[in-house]
Amino acid sequence: MKTLIEFINEKQADFSYATGEFSRLVHDIGIAAKIVNREINKAGIADIFGNEGTVNVQGEEQKKLDVFANNQFIKALKHGGMVCAIASEENDELITFDNELSNRGKYVVAMDPLDGSSNIEVNVSIGTVFSIFRRLSESGSSGDVTDLLQPGTKMVAAGYVIYGSSTMLVYSTGYGVNGFTLDPSVGLFLLSHPEMKIPDGGNIYSINEANYIYFPEGVKEYIRYCQEDEPSSLRPYTTRYIGSLVADFHRNLIRGGIYMYPGTKKNPNGKLRLLYECNPVAFLAEQAGGKASDGFRRILEIQPESLHQRTPLFVGSKHMVEKAEYFMNYFSRDFKK
Ligand code: AHG
Ligand code: MN
Ligand code: MN
Repeated sequence: MKTLIEFINEKQADFSYATGEFSRLVHDIGIAAKIVNREINKAGIADIFGNEGTVNVQGEEQKKLDVFANNQFIKALKHGGMVCAIASEENDELITFDNELSNRGKYVVAMDPLDGSSNIEVNVSIGTVFSIFRRLSESGSSGDVTDLLQPGTKMVAAGYVIYGSSTMLVYSTGYGVNGFTLDPSVGLFLLSHPEMKIPDGGNIYSINEANYIYFPEGVKEYIRYCQEDEPSSLRPYTTRYIGSLVADFHRNLIRGGIYMYPGTKKNPNGKLRLLYECNPVAFLAEQAGGKASDGFRRILEIQPESLHQRTPLFVGSKHMVEKAEYFMNYFSRDFKK
């Protein structure tokens, strides 16, 4: 089986103008992923469960592993020198590096270093999710916030690591989606899922239904539709909700399905963050033949205004997302931005 490094090198050879910097960046992410994976695997026996005792910019308790993963990814990206700035869920402000090498870096990264942290202590799948853009600011200085405030259509790559029953790195550089499984005995990511495609339809819907009474009418009607007995279709569908976006998305990518985190009257933008949660999964969904929407418009076309901005998300199989959009348009136009 092909290793991640072989795959990256081969792809790089396809582009005569490629300098190898970008390949180096993906390679660095792979290394950080292995280190984080090692820590996660011993979470029950080492003293890394529990809260760090700090709160991030979203007002959420930081877990020790949130902080560990954040530091590891920042360290790897700093060391590689390809990246001039990082936006992270765990850092209020943009992260820049005060060194010449990084200031010449052509790329910026937005990341959620540990997604699904409420699942750490109960041995349920968690992830890391990231998107990569070319910087806009001039090379030679540290990157700035405008480098990160680019719409997803400008993304050059995105991916996630899922720490699950096996650990996988799934990423795309805009030429399809490829998945690599970590062989822990040799410490190598191997190409196990080449050219991943999401089925156009499916029978899984993923949503935190406990929030039902707050949902827009369009979402309520779509859920009703999912639950209808319609033997000629796959309905009633089935519900699967892990509570880690990465893991829910990964399952739906393989099986076909839709993941929804809608806005409500109280929180019209929902919960998930555009830059480092919605954008990367939207990019991967589209690259795999699926769709991602805020209910009305394409996630990748949203112009970000701040690093930690939120957006409603409907992502997954093309026909399912289109159906949800239909219900949103019919019943919940008041939620349209
Ligand atoms: P994080 O652990 O990075 O804060 O993200 C959690 C996110 C996402 O992964 C998950 O799908 C969602 O929050 C779950 O939210 P609810 O508990 O509100 O369903
Ligand atoms: Mn998250
Ligand atoms: Mn997180």
